[in-house]
Amino acid sequence: MCGIIAYQGVHNADQRIVEGLKHLEYRGYDSWGIAVATATGKMHRKRQVGEIGKVSLKSLNLPEAHIGIGHTRWATHGGVTQKNAHPHFSMNKKIVLVHNGIVENDEVLRKELRKKGYVFQSETDSEVVVNLIENYRKKVSLKEAVRKTMKDIAGRNAIVVLEQDGKELIATRNGSPLIVGVGEKEVYIASDIPAFLEHTQTVYYLDDGQMVVVQEGKPQFFDLTNGKKISRRKITVDIEPEQAEKGSYDHFMIKEIMDQKETTRKAVDQNERQLMEVAKMIKKAYGSFLVGCGSAAAVCKLGEYIFSTVANKHINAVEASEFRHFFGFLTSKSLMIVVSQSGETADVIEAIEVAKKKNVKIIGILNNTNSTIGRLADYVFPIHAGQERAVASTKAITAQFVVMTLLAYAAKGNVLEGKRKLVDVASQMNELLNPRYEKHIQRIARVLKNKEHVYILGRGLNVPVAKESSIKIQEISYIHAESFAAGELKHGPLALVTKGTPVIVLVGKDDTEDEMLSNAKEVKARGGMIIGISPENHSVFDHWLHVPNVGDMSYMVNILPVQLLSYYLGIMKGHNPDKPRNLAKSVTVK
Ligand code: F6R
Repeated sequence: MCGIIAYQGVHNADQRIVEGLKHLEYRGYDSWGIAVATATGKMHRKRQVGEIGKVSLKSLNLPEAHIGIGHTRWATHGGVTQKNAHPHFSMNKKIVLVHNGIVENDEVLRKELRKKGYVFQSETDSEVVVNLIENYRKKVSLKEAVRKTMKDIAGRNAIVVLEQDGKELIATRNGSPLIVGVGEKEVYIASDIPAFLEHTQTVYYLDDGQMVVVQEGKPQFFDLTNGKKISRRKITVDIEPEQAEKGSYDHFMIKEIMDQKETTRKAVDQNERQLMEVAKMIKKAYGSFLVGCGSAAAVCKLGEYIFSTVANKHINAVEASEFRHFFGFLTSKSLMIVVSQSGETADVIEAIEVAKKKNVKIIGILNNTNSTIGRLADYVFPIHAGQERAVASTKAITAQFVVMTLLAYAAKGNVLEGKRKLVDVASQMNELLNPRYEKHIQRIARVLKNKEHVYILGRGLNVPVAKESSIKIQEISYIHAESFAAGELKHGPLALVTKGTPVIVLVGKDDTEDEMLSNAKEVKARGGMIIGISPENHSVFDHWLHVPNVGDMSYMVNILPVQLLSYYLGIMKGHNPDKPRNLAKSVTVK
Protein backbone atom coordinates (compact mmCIF):
# COMPACT_ATOMS: atom_id res chain seq x y z
CA MET A 1 0.00 0.00 0.00
CA CYS A 2 1.39 3.41 -1.03
CA GLY A 3 4.10 3.45 -3.64
CA ILE A 4 7.55 4.79 -2.84
CA ILE A 5 10.32 5.59 -5.29
CA ALA A 6 13.58 7.40 -4.70
CA TYR A 7 16.38 8.08 -7.15
CA GLN A 8 19.98 9.14 -7.19
CA GLY A 9 21.99 9.02 -10.39
CA VAL A 10 23.16 10.65 -13.59
CA HIS A 11 19.70 11.09 -15.09
CA ASN A 12 17.06 13.66 -14.22
CA ALA A 13 15.49 12.65 -10.94
CA ASP A 14 12.05 14.09 -11.74
CA GLN A 15 11.79 12.02 -14.94
CA ARG A 16 12.81 8.77 -13.24
CA ILE A 17 10.54 9.40 -10.24
CA VAL A 18 7.43 10.38 -12.19
CA GLU A 19 7.89 7.37 -14.46
CA GLY A 20 8.36 5.13 -11.40
CA LEU A 21 5.26 6.53 -9.71
CA LYS A 22 3.19 5.76 -12.80
CA HIS A 23 4.33 2.14 -12.54
CA LEU A 24 3.51 2.05 -8.84
CA GLU A 25 0.09 3.61 -9.02
CA TYR A 26 -1.67 0.30 -8.35
CA ARG A 27 -0.36 0.57 -4.78
CA GLY A 28 -2.40 3.70 -4.08
CA TYR A 29 -3.90 6.44 -6.15
CA ASP A 30 -5.46 8.99 -3.79
CA SER A 31 -2.71 11.55 -4.31
CA TRP A 32 0.93 11.73 -5.28
CA GLY A 33 3.97 13.89 -4.78
CA ILE A 34 7.63 14.34 -5.61
CA ALA A 35 10.54 16.27 -4.06
CA VAL A 36 13.97 16.83 -5.59
CA ALA A 37 17.12 18.49 -4.24
CA THR A 38 19.27 20.47 -6.67
CA ALA A 39 23.07 20.61 -6.74
CA THR A 40 22.83 24.08 -5.18
CA GLY A 41 21.07 22.62 -2.14
CA LYS A 42 17.52 23.76 -2.90
CA MET A 43 14.56 21.51 -2.33
CA HIS A 44 11.54 21.58 -4.67
CA ARG A 45 8.31 19.76 -4.05
CA LYS A 46 5.09 19.12 -6.07
CA ARG A 47 2.02 17.35 -4.70
CA GLN A 48 -1.44 16.74 -6.11
CA VAL A 49 -4.66 15.01 -5.22
CA GLY A 50 -5.69 12.31 -7.72
CA GLU A 51 -3.89 9.87 -9.97
CA ILE A 52 -0.50 10.60 -11.48
CA GLY A 53 -1.35 8.56 -14.59
CA LYS A 54 -1.98 11.43 -16.98
CA VAL A 55 0.35 14.04 -15.48
CA SER A 56 3.09 15.22 -17.83
CA LEU A 57 6.59 15.74 -16.54
CA LYS A 58 6.77 19.10 -18.28
CA SER A 59 3.77 20.44 -16.41
CA LEU A 60 5.60 19.91 -13.11
CA ASN A 61 8.31 22.35 -14.13
CA LEU A 62 10.88 20.97 -11.72
CA PRO A 63 14.55 22.07 -12.00
CA GLU A 64 17.43 19.78 -12.98
CA ALA A 65 18.23 17.53 -10.05
CA HIS A 66 19.82 14.12 -9.65
CA ILE A 67 18.35 13.09 -6.36
CA GLY A 68 14.75 12.93 -5.21
CA ILE A 69 11.88 10.99 -3.69
CA GLY A 70 8.28 10.31 -4.76
CA HIS A 71 5.13 8.76 -3.36
CA THR A 72 1.69 7.66 -4.49
CA ARG A 73 -0.68 7.51 -1.55
CA TRP A 74 -3.37 5.24 -0.18
CA ALA A 75 -4.69 7.32 2.71
CA THR A 76 -4.42 5.95 6.25
CA HIS A 77 -3.95 8.92 8.62
CA GLY A 78 -5.80 11.96 7.35
CA GLY A 79 -8.10 12.55 4.39
CA VAL A 80 -7.26 12.75 0.72
CA THR A 81 -5.93 16.30 0.54
CA GLN A 82 -2.89 17.99 -0.92
CA LYS A 83 -1.62 18.77 2.59
CA ASN A 84 -1.70 15.11 3.51
CA ALA A 85 0.05 14.03 0.30
CA HIS A 86 3.70 12.98 0.52
CA PRO A 87 6.57 13.93 0.53
CA HIS A 88 6.40 15.67 3.90
CA PHE A 89 8.83 18.36 5.02
CA SER A 90 10.14 18.60 8.54
CA MET A 91 9.29 21.88 10.24
CA ASN A 92 12.56 23.56 9.24
CA LYS A 93 12.00 22.35 5.65
CA LYS A 94 15.49 20.86 5.51
CA ILE A 95 14.43 17.24 5.55
CA VAL A 96 11.82 15.59 3.37
CA LEU A 97 10.31 12.12 3.73
CA VAL A 98 8.08 9.55 2.05
CA HIS A 99 6.50 6.89 4.20
CA ASN A 100 4.55 3.67 3.84
CA GLY A 101 2.88 2.13 6.88
CA ILE A 102 1.15 3.19 10.05
CA VAL A 103 2.85 4.69 13.10
CA GLU A 104 0.84 3.10 15.86
CA ASN A 105 2.09 5.44 18.62
CA ASP A 106 1.59 8.52 16.46
CA GLU A 107 -0.55 10.41 19.00
CA VAL A 108 1.97 10.10 21.85
CA LEU A 109 4.90 11.12 19.64
CA ARG A 110 2.95 14.05 18.19
CA LYS A 111 2.19 15.36 21.69
CA GLU A 112 5.86 15.13 22.68
CA LEU A 113 6.92 16.98 19.56
CA ARG A 114 4.28 19.66 20.14
CA LYS A 115 5.70 20.23 23.61
CA LYS A 116 9.05 20.84 21.93
CA GLY A 117 7.43 23.50 19.72
CA TYR A 118 6.75 21.50 16.58
CA VAL A 119 3.80 22.63 14.50
CA PHE A 120 2.18 20.24 12.03
CA GLN A 121 0.90 21.07 8.55
CA SER A 122 -0.90 17.78 7.92
CA GLU A 123 -2.93 15.15 9.74
CA THR A 124 -0.47 12.41 8.83
CA ASP A 125 1.66 10.19 11.04
CA SER A 126 4.37 10.63 8.38
CA GLU A 127 4.89 14.26 9.37
CA VAL A 128 5.49 13.09 12.93
CA VAL A 129 8.26 10.82 11.65
CA VAL A 130 10.03 13.53 9.66
CA ASN A 131 9.91 15.92 12.62
CA LEU A 132 11.32 13.27 14.95
CA ILE A 133 14.20 12.95 12.50
CA GLU A 134 14.65 16.73 12.42
CA ASN A 135 14.73 16.82 16.21
CA TYR A 136 17.43 14.15 16.46
CA ARG A 137 19.33 15.66 13.53
CA LYS A 138 20.18 18.71 15.67
CA LYS A 139 22.79 16.55 17.43
CA VAL A 140 23.64 13.59 15.18
CA SER A 141 24.11 12.64 11.52
CA LEU A 142 21.06 12.04 9.32
CA LYS A 143 21.73 8.30 9.40
CA GLU A 144 21.79 8.28 13.20
CA ALA A 145 18.71 10.50 13.37
CA VAL A 146 16.80 8.04 11.15
CA ARG A 147 18.01 5.11 13.26
CA LYS A 148 16.89 6.71 16.52
CA THR A 149 13.54 7.66 15.00
CA MET A 150 12.88 4.11 13.84
CA LYS A 151 13.43 2.94 17.41
CA ASP A 152 10.79 5.40 18.60
CA ILE A 153 8.04 4.47 16.18
CA ALA A 154 5.79 1.44 16.61
CA GLY A 155 4.08 -0.43 13.78
CA ARG A 156 5.01 -1.61 10.30
CA ASN A 157 6.77 1.11 8.38
CA ALA A 158 9.16 1.97 5.57
CA ILE A 159 10.64 5.42 4.97
CA VAL A 160 12.96 7.21 2.59
CA VAL A 161 14.55 10.46 3.66
CA LEU A 162 16.36 13.20 1.78
CA GLU A 163 18.11 16.28 3.12
CA GLN A 164 18.29 19.65 1.48
CA ASP A 165 21.99 19.33 0.57
CA GLY A 166 21.00 16.43 -1.70
CA LYS A 167 24.02 14.34 -0.81
CA GLU A 168 22.35 11.12 0.24
CA LEU A 169 19.18 9.08 0.36
CA ILE A 170 18.49 7.11 3.51
CA ALA A 171 15.89 4.39 3.60
CA THR A 172 14.86 1.81 6.13
CA ARG A 173 12.08 -0.68 6.75
CA ASN A 174 10.37 -2.45 9.57
CA GLY A 175 7.43 -4.39 8.18
CA SER A 176 6.86 -2.68 4.86
CA PRO A 177 8.76 -3.58 1.67
CA LEU A 178 11.66 -1.66 0.12
CA ILE A 179 13.87 -2.81 -2.72
CA VAL A 180 17.08 -1.19 -3.95
CA GLY A 181 17.69 -1.28 -7.71
CA VAL A 182 21.18 -0.60 -9.03
CA GLY A 183 21.69 0.54 -12.61
CA GLU A 184 24.51 2.19 -14.54
CA LYS A 185 25.59 5.08 -12.29
CA GLU A 186 22.18 5.21 -10.67
CA VAL A 187 20.34 3.77 -7.67
CA TYR A 188 16.62 3.39 -7.07
CA ILE A 189 14.79 2.64 -3.85
CA ALA A 190 11.22 1.53 -4.30
CA SER A 191 8.40 -0.35 -2.67
CA ASP A 192 8.15 -2.65 -5.68
CA ILE A 193 10.36 -3.61 -8.62
CA PRO A 194 8.16 -2.35 -11.50
CA ALA A 195 9.04 1.18 -10.40
CA PHE A 196 12.49 0.81 -11.99
CA LEU A 197 12.30 -2.42 -13.98
CA GLU A 198 12.86 -0.64 -17.29
CA HIS A 199 16.25 0.52 -16.09
CA THR A 200 17.63 -2.34 -14.08
CA GLN A 201 16.91 -5.87 -13.00
CA THR A 202 19.72 -5.89 -10.43
CA VAL A 203 18.31 -5.53 -6.96
CA TYR A 204 19.01 -5.83 -3.27
CA TYR A 205 16.09 -6.75 -1.04
CA LEU A 206 16.07 -4.81 2.20
CA ASP A 207 14.90 -6.88 5.17
CA ASP A 208 13.22 -5.61 8.32
CA GLY A 209 15.68 -3.87 10.61
CA GLN A 210 18.00 -2.88 7.79
CA MET A 211 18.91 0.47 6.38
CA VAL A 212 20.42 1.67 3.12
CA VAL A 213 22.42 4.84 2.58
CA VAL A 214 22.85 5.89 -1.05
CA GLN A 215 25.70 8.27 -1.81
CA GLU A 216 27.19 9.06 -5.21
CA GLY A 217 25.20 6.32 -6.92
CA LYS A 218 26.27 3.56 -4.50
CA PRO A 219 24.20 1.83 -1.82
CA GLN A 220 25.65 0.82 1.55
CA PHE A 221 23.70 -1.32 3.97
CA PHE A 222 23.49 -1.08 7.76
CA ASP A 223 21.88 -2.86 10.66
CA LEU A 224 19.21 -0.62 12.13
CA THR A 225 19.77 -1.85 15.68
CA ASN A 226 23.50 -1.15 16.03
CA GLY A 227 24.22 0.99 12.97
CA LYS A 228 26.95 -1.42 11.82
CA LYS A 229 27.66 -2.02 8.15
CA ILE A 230 26.27 -5.26 6.72
CA SER A 231 26.56 -6.93 3.33
CA ARG A 232 23.55 -7.77 1.20
CA ARG A 233 23.35 -10.18 -1.72
CA LYS A 234 22.79 -8.70 -5.15
CA ILE A 235 20.04 -10.51 -7.09
CA THR A 236 19.08 -10.39 -10.76
CA VAL A 237 15.32 -10.65 -11.06
CA ASP A 238 13.83 -12.41 -14.06
CA ILE A 239 10.74 -10.26 -14.59
CA GLU A 240 10.49 -8.94 -18.12
CA PRO A 241 9.26 -5.33 -18.32
CA GLU A 242 6.68 -6.19 -21.02
CA GLN A 243 5.02 -8.69 -18.66
CA ALA A 244 4.06 -5.68 -16.64
CA GLU A 245 2.46 -3.86 -19.61
CA LYS A 246 -1.07 -4.25 -20.91
CA GLY A 247 -0.24 -4.56 -24.61
CA SER A 248 -3.30 -4.18 -26.84
CA TYR A 249 -5.80 -4.52 -23.97
CA ASP A 250 -7.64 -1.53 -22.53
CA HIS A 251 -6.98 -2.56 -18.95
CA PHE A 252 -4.68 -4.80 -16.99
CA MET A 253 -7.68 -6.59 -15.55
CA ILE A 254 -8.94 -7.92 -18.89
CA LYS A 255 -5.39 -8.72 -19.98
CA GLU A 256 -4.84 -10.69 -16.80
CA ILE A 257 -8.17 -12.52 -17.18
CA MET A 258 -7.05 -13.54 -20.68
CA ASP A 259 -3.55 -14.43 -19.42
CA GLN A 260 -5.23 -17.33 -17.65
CA LYS A 261 -5.10 -19.20 -20.95
CA GLU A 262 -1.41 -19.71 -20.20
CA THR A 263 -1.01 -19.08 -16.48
CA THR A 264 -3.25 -21.93 -15.36
CA ARG A 265 -1.18 -24.41 -17.31
CA LYS A 266 2.07 -22.85 -16.05
CA ALA A 267 0.95 -23.16 -12.43
CA VAL A 268 0.77 -26.93 -12.86
CA ASP A 269 4.55 -27.03 -13.24
CA GLN A 270 5.53 -27.56 -9.64
CA ASN A 271 8.48 -29.34 -8.15
CA GLU A 272 7.09 -32.82 -7.57
CA ARG A 273 9.58 -33.73 -4.86
CA GLN A 274 8.69 -30.64 -2.90
CA LEU A 275 4.97 -31.33 -3.37
CA MET A 276 5.43 -34.82 -1.92
CA GLU A 277 7.61 -33.60 0.93
CA VAL A 278 5.15 -30.90 1.95
CA ALA A 279 2.20 -33.29 1.54
CA LYS A 280 3.93 -35.66 3.95
CA MET A 281 4.35 -32.80 6.41
CA ILE A 282 0.67 -31.87 6.09
CA LYS A 283 -0.38 -35.45 6.79
CA LYS A 284 1.86 -35.63 9.84
CA ALA A 285 1.12 -32.18 11.22
CA TYR A 286 -1.04 -31.72 14.25
CA GLY A 287 -3.12 -28.67 13.37
CA SER A 288 -2.50 -27.16 9.94
CA PHE A 289 -3.73 -23.71 9.01
CA LEU A 290 -4.39 -22.08 5.64
CA VAL A 291 -3.94 -18.33 6.00
CA GLY A 292 -4.56 -15.44 3.59
CA CYS A 293 -6.57 -12.25 3.09
CA GLY A 294 -9.40 -11.27 0.74
CA SER A 295 -9.37 -13.34 -2.43
CA ALA A 296 -6.41 -15.30 -1.09
CA ALA A 297 -8.56 -16.13 1.96
CA ALA A 298 -11.18 -17.52 -0.45
CA VAL A 299 -8.40 -19.67 -1.95
CA CYS A 300 -7.59 -20.89 1.56
CA LYS A 301 -11.24 -21.78 2.13
CA LEU A 302 -11.23 -23.65 -1.15
CA GLY A 303 -8.11 -25.46 0.08
CA GLU A 304 -10.02 -26.56 3.17
CA TYR A 305 -12.68 -28.13 0.92
CA ILE A 306 -10.20 -29.67 -1.55
CA PHE A 307 -8.09 -31.25 1.18
CA SER A 308 -11.23 -32.68 2.71
CA THR A 309 -12.70 -34.09 -0.51
CA VAL A 310 -9.50 -35.20 -2.23
CA ALA A 311 -7.21 -36.20 0.64
CA ASN A 312 -9.63 -36.74 3.52
CA LYS A 313 -7.58 -34.31 5.58
CA HIS A 314 -8.89 -31.45 7.68
CA ILE A 315 -7.00 -28.17 7.49
CA ASN A 316 -8.30 -24.98 9.08
CA ALA A 317 -8.72 -21.96 6.82
CA VAL A 318 -8.50 -18.68 8.73
CA GLU A 319 -8.47 -15.10 7.43
CA ALA A 320 -5.06 -13.67 8.34
CA SER A 321 -6.64 -10.59 9.92
CA GLU A 322 -8.45 -12.91 12.35
CA PHE A 323 -5.64 -15.34 12.88
CA ARG A 324 -4.43 -13.89 16.18
CA HIS A 325 -7.51 -15.38 17.82
CA PHE A 326 -6.08 -18.81 16.94
CA PHE A 327 -2.42 -18.19 17.84
CA GLY A 328 -2.90 -20.33 20.93
CA PHE A 329 -3.34 -23.45 18.79
CA LEU A 330 0.08 -23.17 17.17
CA THR A 331 2.70 -25.60 18.38
CA SER A 332 5.91 -26.92 16.88
CA LYS A 333 3.77 -29.72 15.37
CA SER A 334 1.56 -27.26 13.47
CA LEU A 335 1.95 -26.19 9.87
CA MET A 336 1.01 -22.93 8.24
CA ILE A 337 0.23 -22.66 4.54
CA VAL A 338 0.02 -19.04 3.47
CA VAL A 339 -1.48 -17.84 0.21
CA SER A 340 -0.49 -14.46 -1.16
CA GLN A 341 -0.07 -12.91 -4.57
CA SER A 342 2.10 -10.01 -3.44
CA GLY A 343 3.86 -11.76 -0.60
CA GLU A 344 3.66 -8.47 1.28
CA THR A 345 0.27 -8.55 3.01
CA ALA A 346 0.75 -7.21 6.55
CA ASP A 347 -1.75 -9.47 8.33
CA VAL A 348 -0.24 -12.56 6.73
CA ILE A 349 3.27 -11.47 7.69
CA GLU A 350 2.15 -10.93 11.28
CA ALA A 351 0.65 -14.44 11.42
CA ILE A 352 3.90 -15.88 10.03
CA GLU A 353 6.03 -14.00 12.54
CA VAL A 354 4.07 -15.43 15.45
CA ALA A 355 4.11 -18.93 13.94
CA LYS A 356 7.86 -18.82 13.40
CA LYS A 357 8.42 -17.98 17.06
CA LYS A 358 6.66 -21.28 17.82
CA ASN A 359 8.83 -23.16 15.31
CA VAL A 360 5.92 -23.70 12.94
CA LYS A 361 7.04 -24.50 9.39
CA ILE A 362 5.72 -22.05 6.80
CA ILE A 363 4.68 -23.02 3.28
CA GLY A 364 4.03 -20.19 0.85
CA ILE A 365 1.84 -20.33 -2.24
CA LEU A 366 3.10 -17.11 -3.78
CA ASN A 367 3.33 -15.15 -6.97
CA ASN A 368 6.08 -12.79 -5.88
CA THR A 369 8.55 -15.31 -4.53
CA ASN A 370 11.21 -12.72 -3.71
CA SER A 371 8.79 -10.92 -1.44
CA THR A 372 8.96 -10.64 2.34
CA ILE A 373 6.77 -13.74 2.73
CA GLY A 374 8.87 -15.57 0.14
CA ARG A 375 11.92 -14.89 2.25
CA LEU A 376 10.20 -15.86 5.50
CA ALA A 377 8.72 -19.15 4.24
CA ASP A 378 10.46 -22.50 4.64
CA TYR A 379 8.97 -23.87 1.41
CA VAL A 380 7.71 -21.81 -1.51
CA PHE A 381 5.45 -22.89 -4.35
CA PRO A 382 5.68 -20.22 -7.06
CA ILE A 383 2.38 -19.89 -8.91
CA HIS A 384 4.11 -18.57 -12.09
CA ALA A 385 1.27 -16.14 -12.89
CA GLY A 386 3.57 -13.30 -13.97
CA GLN A 387 3.11 -9.83 -12.66
CA GLU A 388 -0.47 -8.93 -11.71
CA ARG A 389 -1.11 -5.20 -12.03
CA ALA A 390 -4.89 -4.84 -11.75
CA VAL A 391 -5.89 -4.36 -8.13
CA ALA A 392 -8.47 -7.14 -8.45
CA SER A 393 -6.76 -10.49 -8.46
CA THR A 394 -7.71 -12.87 -11.28
CA LYS A 395 -4.93 -14.95 -12.80
CA ALA A 396 -3.16 -15.27 -9.45
CA ILE A 397 -6.30 -16.75 -7.91
CA THR A 398 -6.75 -19.50 -10.50
CA ALA A 399 -3.01 -20.28 -10.32
CA GLN A 400 -3.35 -20.54 -6.51
CA PHE A 401 -6.35 -22.87 -7.02
CA VAL A 402 -4.06 -25.05 -9.13
CA VAL A 403 -1.28 -25.29 -6.54
CA MET A 404 -3.77 -25.97 -3.75
CA THR A 405 -5.28 -28.78 -5.83
CA LEU A 406 -1.86 -30.29 -6.52
CA LEU A 407 -0.97 -30.24 -2.84
CA ALA A 408 -4.20 -32.04 -2.00
CA TYR A 409 -3.55 -34.67 -4.68
CA ALA A 410 -0.01 -35.05 -3.35
CA ALA A 411 -1.50 -35.62 0.11
CA LYS A 412 -3.80 -38.22 -1.45
CA GLY A 413 -0.65 -39.87 -2.81
CA ASN A 414 -1.47 -39.30 -6.48
CA VAL A 415 0.00 -36.06 -7.64
CA LEU A 416 0.04 -37.26 -11.24
CA GLU A 417 -3.75 -37.67 -11.27
CA GLY A 418 -4.06 -34.05 -10.08
CA LYS A 419 -1.61 -32.83 -12.72
CA ARG A 420 -3.33 -34.69 -15.53
CA LYS A 421 -6.76 -33.35 -14.59
CA LEU A 422 -5.47 -29.81 -14.21
CA VAL A 423 -3.71 -29.83 -17.58
CA ASP A 424 -7.01 -30.87 -19.15
CA VAL A 425 -8.88 -28.13 -17.27
CA ALA A 426 -6.30 -25.56 -18.40
CA SER A 427 -6.85 -26.44 -22.05
CA GLN A 428 -10.65 -26.21 -21.65
CA MET A 429 -10.30 -22.81 -19.95
CA ASN A 430 -8.24 -21.73 -22.91
CA GLU A 431 -11.08 -22.47 -25.30
CA LEU A 432 -13.60 -20.58 -23.18
CA LEU A 433 -11.79 -17.24 -23.11
CA ASN A 434 -12.76 -16.05 -26.58
CA PRO A 435 -14.39 -12.87 -28.01
CA ARG A 436 -17.76 -14.58 -28.59
CA TYR A 437 -17.95 -15.54 -24.95
CA GLU A 438 -17.04 -11.99 -23.94
CA LYS A 439 -19.93 -10.68 -26.08
CA HIS A 440 -22.32 -13.00 -24.27
CA ILE A 441 -20.99 -11.83 -20.89
CA GLN A 442 -21.53 -8.24 -21.98
CA ARG A 443 -25.20 -9.02 -22.65
CA ILE A 444 -25.61 -10.35 -19.08
CA ALA A 445 -23.69 -7.36 -17.72
CA ARG A 446 -26.25 -5.06 -19.39
CA VAL A 447 -29.02 -6.93 -17.55
CA LEU A 448 -27.24 -6.50 -14.20
CA LYS A 449 -25.68 -3.08 -14.45
CA ASN A 450 -28.49 -1.15 -12.78
CA LYS A 451 -29.18 -3.68 -10.06
CA GLU A 452 -28.36 -2.72 -6.49
CA HIS A 453 -27.75 -6.21 -5.17
CA VAL A 454 -26.45 -9.47 -6.59
CA TYR A 455 -26.29 -12.72 -4.65
CA ILE A 456 -24.06 -15.64 -5.48
CA LEU A 457 -24.76 -19.19 -4.38
CA GLY A 458 -22.53 -22.24 -4.29
CA ARG A 459 -22.36 -25.59 -2.58
CA GLY A 460 -19.31 -27.57 -1.52
CA LEU A 461 -16.22 -26.57 -3.47
CA ASN A 462 -18.20 -23.74 -5.03
CA VAL A 463 -18.88 -22.02 -1.69
CA PRO A 464 -15.43 -20.37 -1.67
CA VAL A 465 -15.77 -19.64 -5.40
CA ALA A 466 -19.04 -17.84 -4.63
CA LYS A 467 -17.16 -15.81 -1.98
CA GLU A 468 -14.43 -14.92 -4.48
CA SER A 469 -17.14 -14.02 -7.02
CA SER A 470 -18.73 -11.62 -4.56
CA ILE A 471 -15.36 -9.92 -3.94
CA LYS A 472 -14.81 -9.47 -7.70
CA ILE A 473 -18.26 -7.95 -8.29
CA GLN A 474 -18.01 -5.66 -5.24
CA GLU A 475 -14.64 -4.19 -6.05
CA ILE A 476 -15.13 -3.64 -9.77
CA SER A 477 -18.83 -2.76 -10.14
CA TYR A 478 -19.52 -1.37 -6.61
CA ILE A 479 -22.78 -3.34 -6.69
CA HIS A 480 -23.60 -4.94 -3.37
CA ALA A 481 -22.64 -8.58 -3.97
CA GLU A 482 -22.88 -11.25 -1.33
CA SER A 483 -22.30 -14.96 -1.37
CA PHE A 484 -24.02 -17.72 0.53
CA ALA A 485 -23.71 -21.45 0.87
CA ALA A 486 -26.91 -22.33 -1.01
CA GLY A 487 -28.12 -24.57 1.80
CA GLU A 488 -28.04 -21.60 4.17
CA LEU A 489 -30.45 -19.66 2.01
CA LYS A 490 -33.65 -20.59 3.74
CA HIS A 491 -32.09 -19.87 7.12
CA GLY A 492 -32.28 -16.13 6.45
CA PRO A 493 -30.98 -14.71 3.16
CA LEU A 494 -33.98 -15.92 1.14
CA ALA A 495 -35.88 -13.01 2.72
CA LEU A 496 -33.77 -10.68 0.53
CA VAL A 497 -35.14 -12.13 -2.68
CA THR A 498 -37.95 -10.22 -4.40
CA LYS A 499 -39.11 -9.96 -7.99
CA GLY A 500 -36.09 -9.61 -10.28
CA THR A 501 -33.39 -10.03 -7.61
CA PRO A 502 -30.36 -11.37 -9.50
CA VAL A 503 -28.93 -14.57 -8.08
CA ILE A 504 -25.91 -16.21 -9.67
CA VAL A 505 -25.78 -19.94 -9.07
CA LEU A 506 -22.50 -21.80 -9.43
CA VAL A 507 -23.31 -25.35 -10.38
CA GLY A 508 -20.78 -28.05 -9.54
CA LYS A 509 -20.68 -31.23 -11.61
CA ASP A 510 -20.56 -33.38 -8.50
CA ASP A 511 -22.91 -34.61 -5.79
CA THR A 512 -24.01 -31.03 -5.08
CA GLU A 513 -25.58 -30.44 -8.50
CA ASP A 514 -29.14 -31.56 -7.81
CA GLU A 515 -29.38 -29.74 -4.49
CA MET A 516 -27.97 -26.61 -6.08
CA LEU A 517 -30.57 -26.65 -8.82
CA SER A 518 -33.36 -27.18 -6.33
CA ASN A 519 -32.08 -24.17 -4.32
CA ALA A 520 -32.18 -22.19 -7.58
CA LYS A 521 -35.83 -23.23 -7.98
CA GLU A 522 -36.59 -21.99 -4.46
CA VAL A 523 -35.15 -18.60 -5.40
CA LYS A 524 -37.02 -18.54 -8.68
CA ALA A 525 -40.29 -19.37 -6.93
CA ARG A 526 -39.84 -16.09 -4.99
CA GLY A 527 -39.32 -14.05 -8.17
CA GLY A 528 -35.51 -14.19 -8.26
CA MET A 529 -33.71 -13.94 -11.58
CA ILE A 530 -31.37 -16.90 -11.95
CA ILE A 531 -28.06 -16.59 -13.77
CA GLY A 532 -26.73 -20.10 -13.99
CA ILE A 533 -23.04 -20.91 -14.41
CA SER A 534 -22.99 -24.50 -15.53
CA PRO A 535 -21.92 -26.80 -18.40
CA GLU A 536 -25.61 -27.36 -19.19
CA ASN A 537 -28.56 -25.06 -19.59
CA HIS A 538 -31.31 -25.84 -17.07
CA SER A 539 -34.91 -24.70 -17.29
CA VAL A 540 -34.57 -22.83 -13.98
CA PHE A 541 -31.99 -20.45 -15.50
CA ASP A 542 -33.17 -17.07 -16.80
CA HIS A 543 -29.68 -16.56 -18.21
CA TRP A 544 -27.04 -19.18 -18.81
CA LEU A 545 -23.29 -18.73 -18.69
CA HIS A 546 -21.77 -21.80 -20.20
CA VAL A 547 -18.60 -23.32 -18.75
CA PRO A 548 -16.88 -26.53 -19.81
CA ASN A 549 -17.65 -29.75 -17.96
CA VAL A 550 -14.50 -30.38 -15.92
CA GLY A 551 -16.13 -32.76 -13.45
CA ASP A 552 -15.18 -32.23 -9.82
CA MET A 553 -12.89 -29.30 -10.71
CA SER A 554 -15.78 -26.94 -11.54
CA TYR A 555 -14.21 -24.40 -9.14
CA MET A 556 -11.47 -23.86 -11.71
CA VAL A 557 -13.84 -22.72 -14.47
CA ASN A 558 -16.83 -21.27 -12.60
CA ILE A 559 -14.86 -18.20 -11.55
CA LEU A 560 -14.01 -17.20 -15.14
CA PRO A 561 -17.45 -15.86 -16.24
CA VAL A 562 -17.71 -13.91 -12.97
CA GLN A 563 -14.31 -12.30 -13.52
CA LEU A 564 -15.44 -11.21 -16.99
CA LEU A 565 -18.85 -10.13 -15.73
CA SER A 566 -17.24 -7.97 -13.03
CA TYR A 567 -14.95 -6.40 -15.59
CA TYR A 568 -17.76 -5.50 -18.00
CA LEU A 569 -20.02 -4.29 -15.18
CA GLY A 570 -17.20 -1.97 -14.15
CA ILE A 571 -16.75 -0.72 -17.71
CA MET A 572 -20.50 -0.17 -18.22
CA LYS A 573 -20.71 1.77 -14.98
CA GLY A 574 -17.82 4.00 -16.05
CA HIS A 575 -15.31 2.75 -13.48
CA ASN A 576 -11.64 2.10 -13.99
CA PRO A 577 -11.49 -1.67 -13.41
CA ASP A 578 -7.75 -1.52 -12.72
CA LYS A 579 -8.12 0.94 -9.86
CA PRO A 580 -11.24 0.35 -7.79
CA ARG A 581 -12.11 3.21 -5.48
CA ASN A 582 -10.64 3.08 -1.96
CA LEU A 583 -8.54 0.01 -2.74
CA ALA A 584 -4.92 -0.68 -3.60
CA LYS A 585 -2.84 -3.70 -4.38
CA SER A 586 -0.37 -5.05 -1.82
CA VAL A 587 -2.00 -4.33 1.51
CA THR A 588 1.07 -3.59 3.59
CA VAL A 589 -0.84 -2.00 6.48
CA LYS A 590 -3.10 -3.77 8.95
C1 F6R B 1 -9.21 -8.93 -4.42
C2 F6R B 1 -7.82 -8.94 -4.01
C3 F6R B 1 -7.50 -8.92 -2.58
C4 F6R B 1 -6.22 -9.73 -2.31
C5 F6R B 1 -5.81 -9.54 -0.84
C6 F6R B 1 -4.58 -10.37 -0.51
O1 F6R B 1 -9.36 -9.04 -5.79
O2 F6R B 1 -6.94 -8.93 -4.84
O3 F6R B 1 -8.55 -9.36 -1.80
O4 F6R B 1 -6.45 -11.06 -2.58
O5 F6R B 1 -5.54 -8.21 -0.59
O6 F6R B 1 -3.48 -9.97 -1.27
P1 F6R B 1 -2.24 -10.91 -1.47
O7 F6R B 1 -2.68 -12.08 -2.26
O8 F6R B 1 -1.25 -10.07 -2.19
O9 F6R B 1 -1.78 -11.32 -0.11
